[in-house]
Amino acid sequence: MSLKKHSGSLELGECTRNPGYRDVDGDGSAAETIGDHPGEKRDSTSVKLDSEAAEEYTQLRPYAGMPKEVLLLYSSQARYRVPREILFWLTVACTLALVALTIAVIALSPRCLSWWQSSPVYQIYPRSFKDSDGDGVGDLKGIQEQLDHFQYLNIKSVWISPFYRSPMKDFGYDVEDFRAIDPLFGTMQDFEDLLAEMHNKGLKLIMDFIPNHTSDRHRWFNLSRLRDPHYEDYYVWTDCNATTPRPNNWVSVFGNSSWTYDEVRGQCYLHQFLKEQPDLNFRNPHVRQEMIDIIHFWLGKGVDGFRMDAVKHILEAAHLRDEPQVDPNKPPELVTSEWDLHHDYTTSQLGLHDLLREWRAEMDIYSREPGRYRFMVTESYDYHEVDKTMMYYSTPLVKESDFPFNFYLLDLPQNTSGLWVQHLVHLWMANMPKGQWANWVVGNHDKPRIASSSGHTYIRVINMLLLTLPGTPTTYYGEEIGMENINVTDSQIQDPRSPMQWSDDMNAGFNNKTNITWLPVHPDYRTVNVEVENSFSMVQFGRNIWPELACIIPL
Ligand code: NOJ
Repeated sequence: MSLKKHSGSLELGECTRNPGYRDVDGDGSAAETIGDHPGEKRDSTSVKLDSEAAEEYTQLRPYAGMPKEVLLLYSSQARYRVPREILFWLTVACTLALVALTIAVIALSPRCLSWWQSSPVYQIYPRSFKDSDGDGVGDLKGIQEQLDHFQYLNIKSVWISPFYRSPMKDFGYDVEDFRAIDPLFGTMQDFEDLLAEMHNKGLKLIMDFIPNHTSDRHRWFNLSRLRDPHYEDYYVWTDCNATTPRPNNWVSVFGNSSWTYDEVRGQCYLHQFLKEQPDLNFRNPHVRQEMIDIIHFWLGKGVDGFRMDAVKHILEAAHLRDEPQVDPNKPPELVTSEWDLHHDYTTSQLGLHDLLREWRAEMDIYSREPGRYRFMVTESYDYHEVDKTMMYYSTPLVKESDFPFNFYLLDLPQNTSGLWVQHLVHLWMANMPKGQWANWVVGNHDKPRIASSSGHTYIRVINMLLLTLPGTPTTYYGEEIGMENINVTDSQIQDPRSPMQWSDDMNAGFNNKTNITWLPVHPDYRTVNVEVENSFSMVQFGRNIWPELACIIPL
């Protein structure tokens, strides 16, 4: 081996030795050090280089101090190599074991429940909950006055039925302006105050999102019937005969043809509900964008979730062909009810789930802060087409609804035997996709109250069933005290929407300023009211079971 010095650099010959290295293995080959005479041994501290040489020596890169050949020579010796390899494989094994352990802990530990899983959902019908200004109709300020009721009941999630500006042909499900509060219920300031107060009290607010239709008083509809180029296709229009406006046999959920002739535009428009609720055309990208903007508007205000209304109706087949009759022999002119047709072209159309998934993704944008998950529940009555309902859960990789409403317990009144209950519970549990979250509904503004449909005796047991089944229970205002339907005239709304019974005061405490209420108070309010229910002592049989059972989270 030789080390030649040229101007400004050191050059390694075929074999270079570290000047400070001493061969202790005794093969003699490394015993000579640079500049040493054979046989003379020096340690590294004794190597003296003049300053010029020292500077040049630093240019030996990257193995300054120990030349590469020496390093390789010794690093391949068994006493270095074996421990090194053992340490290497030990590190690999430990890392893999740690990763496996972490995965196992995550997989096996109980999931942290989100807010929509750990409390029942309580539905408020705002017209009927609490009237703060004495005009006979409930309002947002009234809801705010009564927030302690939820704290008493141990309820954290409150769904408030529509309070958008509306001509109220379908009591708020006919929206005139998706960004405004109807004056009947208050102002935007009242809404913001209510939401802030709910959040202060640890309550979550879910509101209705009504994508299928608007009111015929919505600005979009007026522009559409005038054929404004931008809005022309915002709704589903087709040519039809003005005197017999039935371009096909489709029928509305509320009965009769789902087409109405519009004189302004000279065409028919589709409405799957009232004629005052024209269906939006979701094949128009502008309409899709409008609805996304509305989702952002309310999420930006801080609402915690949406109950998506009538989702299966959102899309219709573009070909507008007749739907098959359930009874093919029925004369076509007698086909007037939704039960007369198989809704192959007006419900659950291809593309529906893509829309819902897109909305879910928009909601996820607002769900990233801790504790601010935005919840989505879909409303679709698929009756016993259970597969269609389960589709709203989507797949483990693609999110959609957190759960679709489970309406099967609404069939309880048909038969209150244990076997029937078991059948209805099983229907959901056996069909729900693995890993998803169940839910149970026993009442809403469209269905009779438990006490009226199943009988007074069943109120407590049905409430108990609701609160102890695995999953999220949904209850309707007044069910916690066993309110009943009222007897109303044909001209009044038939569904269970009478004023909440708070006490045995005037108008059951719904309001105390006037004697008017938009629907009559049920005459049983003197004994069936919140004050009476809450005043039972712990030891009295029949005490309201809600507060205790609402704390249970059955998994
Ligand atoms: C379902 C609502 O619950 C019902 O009250 C309403 O009439 C329809 N959707 C139409 O929006």
